[in-house]
Amino acid sequence: MSQSQLISGFSKLQTEEKRKLVQELCEDPAKAARVLGSFLYQDADLQNLLSELSENTISNFPLPYNVAPNFLVNNKWYMVPMVTEESSVVAAASFAARFWAERGGFIAKTIGTQKSGQVHFLFRDDPDKLTQHAESISRYLRNKGSSLTEKMEKRGGGIISLEILNRTNLIPDYYQLHVEFETADAMGANFINSILEECSRTLGEYFGTTEGFENGSYEPVMSILSNHVPRCIVEVVAECPVSSLDNITPGQSGKDFARRFALAVEIAASDIYRAATHNKGIMNGVDAVIIATGNDFRAIEAGAHAYAAQSGRYTSLSKAEVHDGLFRFSLTMPMAVGTVGGLTKNHPLAALSLNLLGNPNASMLMQIAASAGIASNFAAVRSLTTTGIQAGHMRMHLPNILTSLHASIQEKEQAMLHFRSNTVSFHSVEDFLKKLRSKNP
Ligand code: MEV
Repeated sequence: MSQSQLISGFSKLQTEEKRKLVQELCEDPAKAARVLGSFLYQDADLQNLLSELSENTISNFPLPYNVAPNFLVNNKWYMVPMVTEESSVVAAASFAARFWAERGGFIAKTIGTQKSGQVHFLFRDDPDKLTQHAESISRYLRNKGSSLTEKMEKRGGGIISLEILNRTNLIPDYYQLHVEFETADAMGANFINSILEECSRTLGEYFGTTEGFENGSYEPVMSILSNHVPRCIVEVVAECPVSSLDNITPGQSGKDFARRFALAVEIAASDIYRAATHNKGIMNGVDAVIIATGNDFRAIEAGAHAYAAQSGRYTSLSKAEVHDGLFRFSLTMPMAVGTVGGLTKNHPLAALSLNLLGNPNASMLMQIAASAGIASNFAAVRSLTTTGIQAGHMRMHLPNILTSLHASIQEKEQAMLHFRSNTVSFHSVEDFLKKLRSKNP
């Protein structure tokens, strides 16, 4: 049964009342009560901490907290925390981390950490007036906003630049106040949005009190940061002699592996259908680290795909080249993360993740998450161009299939042994269990 009519005031109900109401909407209310209840924490402080993160929390939805060892990034070892439900992601990232650690590791560089936001507004007056007043407006906004930027400036951040952009080629009378920010080790979303809203009010004040502007010429539309962050970029490179790729799959030469791998990346660079999947493989690693460290994976996803499309054609975020006997695989992508503020210190597991990584600053976290991205991408493209993805994928998926078929612990153990050397599919596992159960009824 699903909700059948409008419900008013749901958010004002007590948590217990909300849970009850939801249970009644489920096929088996008693079972729903057990499931919802079993995922609640007994530790009241911990449960309150989680419940306060969102509205209408009635239970928790746990995901596996995993670690991938052997990440060597800029000559430093990391055990990387990864939160993901996809069975092969951590195994693949761990394989690639070790593979590259044995070949010098990942070399990562942060190219910038700037973010931006815009006040979108209409201006129904002479555009030249905006040009003439540009400097004075910028000074006025900086002065008026100084109380908001003071603290951030002490941490090495603040407003980098303010610029009025004429976008009337897109929409009549449409302009932007484009503001570039440095937010130090914070992701900075609240800081940026507060400044932008203040700028919008202050712009109105400027036009309303400065001589020469027509009354009502300024109409603010909205003020918000942008998740397109092309100046908040991290680059990570994995490089080795082609000869050290010999036998990465038994019997295959490094030369042939590198050629086929580079070809697969070239296909991703050329074709949007392949590019989206290729980049998803990168985000498998990146998102898992972003979630584990309490960062906003939707922002990272939005930024990555906007960047991949910024030339007007959606393309691959990674590149593979073979030159003078060297195989070079690189990933360049935007990554707006924070290691202070937000969930990073409030969520005990996010804080633990950062601790496990040696309490990195934002720039280092960008490099670690990008390394997880290139590792996942390497492992995926390697499988795709050699054995195919399904063999490894299905083997990792085997425990889920067994659980869905209600296999006992003993049956699971026997199945794991059997499928070490046999092809996993839902039917083959079902068949295996059937035979096993007929032998031991
Ligand atoms: C699956 O989660 C990710 C892959 O599809 C990535 C890729 O195709 O490169 C395997």
